[in-house]
Amino acid sequence: MADIQASDARFVRNGGDQRKAAEPCTIVIFGASGDLTARKLIPAFYHLAKDKQLPPAYRIIGFARRDKTDDSWRQELREALDEFSRTKPVDETLWRGFAANLFYCKGDLNDTAAYAKLEQRLSSFNSPPLRKNLLFYLATPPSQFGGVIEQLHSAKLLHKESNGHGWQRLVVEKPFGHDLASAHALNAELTRYAHEQQVCRIDHYLGKETVQNILMFRFSNSIFERLWNRETVDHVQITVSEKLGVGERGGYYEEAGALRDMVQNHMLQVLALVAMEPPVSLEAEAVRDEKVKLLKSIRELTPADVARQIVRGQYFAGSINGQPVPGYRQEPKVRPDSNVETYVALKFFIDNWRWSGVPFYLRTGKYLPMSASEVRIQFRPTPHVLFAAQCGRNLDTNAIALRLQPNEGIYLRFNGKVPGMSLGVRPVRMHFSYDAEFGAYTPEAYERLLLEAIVGDATLFIRRDEVETAWQIVDSIRKGWDGKPLTNREFYAAGTWGPVAADDLLAQGGHAWHEPVPVK
Ligand code: BG6
Repeated sequence: MADIQASDARFVRNGGDQRKAAEPCTIVIFGASGDLTARKLIPAFYHLAKDKQLPPAYRIIGFARRDKTDDSWRQELREALDEFSRTKPVDETLWRGFAANLFYCKGDLNDTAAYAKLEQRLSSFNSPPLRKNLLFYLATPPSQFGGVIEQLHSAKLLHKESNGHGWQRLVVEKPFGHDLASAHALNAELTRYAHEQQVCRIDHYLGKETVQNILMFRFSNSIFERLWNRETVDHVQITVSEKLGVGERGGYYEEAGALRDMVQNHMLQVLALVAMEPPVSLEAEAVRDEKVKLLKSIRELTPADVARQIVRGQYFAGSINGQPVPGYRQEPKVRPDSNVETYVALKFFIDNWRWSGVPFYLRTGKYLPMSASEVRIQFRPTPHVLFAAQCGRNLDTNAIALRLQPNEGIYLRFNGKVPGMSLGVRPVRMHFSYDAEFGAYTPEAYERLLLEAIVGDATLFIRRDEVETAWQIVDSIRKGWDGKPLTNREFYAAGTWGPVAADDLLAQGGHAWHEPVPVK
């Protein structure tokens, strides 16, 4: 921790040492030749090793179809680490120790013999915990989940009841289905041979420090939470903007669109944390109960509500950093007449005592002018403007912004007198910057999430009813869009802040979007 005032040091409360100990285990990555393993998983495990967070004994087995040996896989991962590691250069001694725990198992996901081979590999470690405590990371298309789980069960590698069998957990990533029905079917497959508590559904936003800090900020301070309601809050804006386009992911994106890709998971999670009631404890179930309750209190949308409250957008050719970029319909693997949304803006109402009548605006899009994620709590205006004669009626209203990334921090915006003889007022900001306060400590979300999966703390994973409730919301929106092509007001030039229809959406309520401002 950088520069904490000596007088504040005694207030530091550290819960880190209450974490459950990580037991010796083996992590098996199915679909290990994919991008995720090289870019995210192995760098995250390497950093966990670096921070001495991994169990005293562990092995990581990559399971995939391509022909590789332990050594060739290690070599490949080493090259990837040089490229993707968040700390550079890679520590050679540390790498050698870490790499000795990496193994490759060649096999087809549908081939029973391959699972027998995997079992032999696990037994060859000659250690009961390394054989029995197993974290299965399913980095495969969801259509394969059911088959892999069935095979694991038949090979006696996955047990629903512990009974001396150690523990096993399944880690899965989005896309978690493409609608409620498919998510329901996937959940049924996942829990056929495992309990819900053994399933870790990853949403990488929940591994971000700043997203975790939302609960800390709300529930470890008394001054903000009492403002957090319909009496003082006028509306809330949640922006997740991305400067990147769809690029090479056109094939995936044509099936997903911004609504499934970002809203169903990341944005609804952030909304739930911002708006939920205080949980009774920090136990996984208590936190997740509150999130589900919040998601369930989002007012249902009829097709007419969708037309009024939800805006789609798609980028056409424009420019980013002064360079011309193509439109979405010109991207590889995208249909030339595609109606898929690369942008979405939503207005939700939360029907409960705390938030009744307060609009929550969410927006996300590709090829916007900057990459930034921010939650902005916009407060009501003063009941009377004392300075109207001198400064006009329209005083800026107070706001708190939680800047989730980059330039992480929190700021409070309020009005102050401009120094001088005349009466002038203007907004000023008080801010807290993570970097300035704590120094540059930016572990990747995956590091936290993989560690939680190893120790078996489910708080940061998405529970079955959470994912299904989120799909219900998304399905009702898609139903409203069914068969309706994008209109002219829903296109935007790459490099701009989205379609005019999104400005219209806020203007209806007398509001306007606020662009995220970096906290420096
Ligand atoms: C992923 C989406 O889940 O999140 C991507 O599939 C998106 O389309 C990404 O770019 C954003 O994550 P982050 O951590 O960069 O904000």
